[in-house]
Amino acid sequence: MLKIGIDKIGFYAPHLYVDMTKLADRRNVDPDKFTIGIGQDKMAVAPITQDAVTLAANAALGILDEQDKNDIDFVIFGTETGVDSSKSAAVYVHELLGLNPYARAIEVKQACYGATAGIQMAKAHIAMNPESKVLVLGSDIARYGLNTPGEATQGAGAVALLVSAAPHIMSLEDQSVYVTSDIMDFWRPVYSDKAFADGKLSNEQYMAFFSKVWQQYKAKSGLGLENFEAITFHLPYTKMGKKALKPVLEETTEDVQERLKANYQLSTGYNRNVGNIYTGSLYLSLLSLLEQKDDLAAGSRIGLFSYGSGAVGEFFTGILQNDYRDHLHVKQHAELFAARKEVTVDEYEAIFEETLPTDGSRVELDINNDPAKICLAGVTDHKRQYVNKLR
Ligand code: CAA
Repeated sequence: MLKIGIDKIGFYAPHLYVDMTKLADRRNVDPDKFTIGIGQDKMAVAPITQDAVTLAANAALGILDEQDKNDIDFVIFGTETGVDSSKSAAVYVHELLGLNPYARAIEVKQACYGATAGIQMAKAHIAMNPESKVLVLGSDIARYGLNTPGEATQGAGAVALLVSAAPHIMSLEDQSVYVTSDIMDFWRPVYSDKAFADGKLSNEQYMAFFSKVWQQYKAKSGLGLENFEAITFHLPYTKMGKKALKPVLEETTEDVQERLKANYQLSTGYNRNVGNIYTGSLYLSLLSLLEQKDDLAAGSRIGLFSYGSGAVGEFFTGILQNDYRDHLHVKQHAELFAARKEVTVDEYEAIFEETLPTDGSRVELDINNDPAKICLAGVTDHKRQYVNKLR
């Protein structure tokens, strides 16, 4: 049976962050609310020279070799902060990375679920074309607005997943459960650059969707919590997955509960320091677990819960492959975190308010202060101008 799954995982977050305790002080909120109640320590801040396209391209740049660039024949870009209503963000990334021209390139949207849809499409594509590789991107900038309840759950970043046959990191199992229901828990009308959220409803629906897909998955697969080494979650903030996991833990023994709770904690490490990156958040959590726990055994089953408001939820699973650790980019990601620079709350607010013109007027951006290899350099004639500094 052909194994299909995740061969490589890349990640990129912008080089700036704001400290959540300092943001809490400014908002007259007890810092424990942000760091414990919500579970966030640092929030990535995207400078104007980074958008969903550049974040994704930078995430992929770190993992692809020349062979991959030749073999990729499908680029699937999951985002809910795309830069154009017609042209897909995947086409820009395809060009910026110099990928094989004989490729498909599309954008997928369903809130934070987009990259999961991309992975499932990639799996089906590779089942038909075993020589292919598919680049799946999840890239977003989460914006709710200054002084809003959602502010503490913003963030920015991207995850790039190379999906292939005979994957080096994790093979995807066939059984999965997905569910759709029309609810208004979180949305962003086309005229707004900030999302709207019914916070309480979104929390409730997230938990209800997890419970639904988990119960259905158990009935379909005959498996239970004891068959999982870890369950990873879409993390709008790190407390969210904990809230969803807690009620189902009662189904199992204390040993299994302890294992799942400890591994959940490890799976939140990167997210706690980046914030919500919407489509990429689940995969950032998976990456956090794999890169921060050095003794997860090959053959372990990992659960993944994807949730995209609006809403679509899916529970699916993967099996860690032999020597998967040799194919992670632990050092590169540690360096990325170490090189970030803190901005003050004033600086964060100024960066937040700086937006591109919406009337097509020409703008040139200074990309010298942005250490990213791929940046947005401006807008000319309504066209975004991207630069890959390595070229
Ligand atoms: N010390 C410790 N904990 C404290 C505290 C303190 N001093 N003060 C408050 N807390 C706790 C609260 O008890 C609460 O914990 P529980 O959830 O376990 O009850 C937690 O901090 C948050 O407090 P509130 O509920 O009062 O927070 P809030 O109403 O100000 O906002 C939020 C929280 C609803 C998540 C808001 O940030 C928001 O609207 N975010 C955007 C929407 C969102 O992220 N929804 C998540 C599900 S939807 C989804 O997953 C898709 C997506 O990516 C958006």
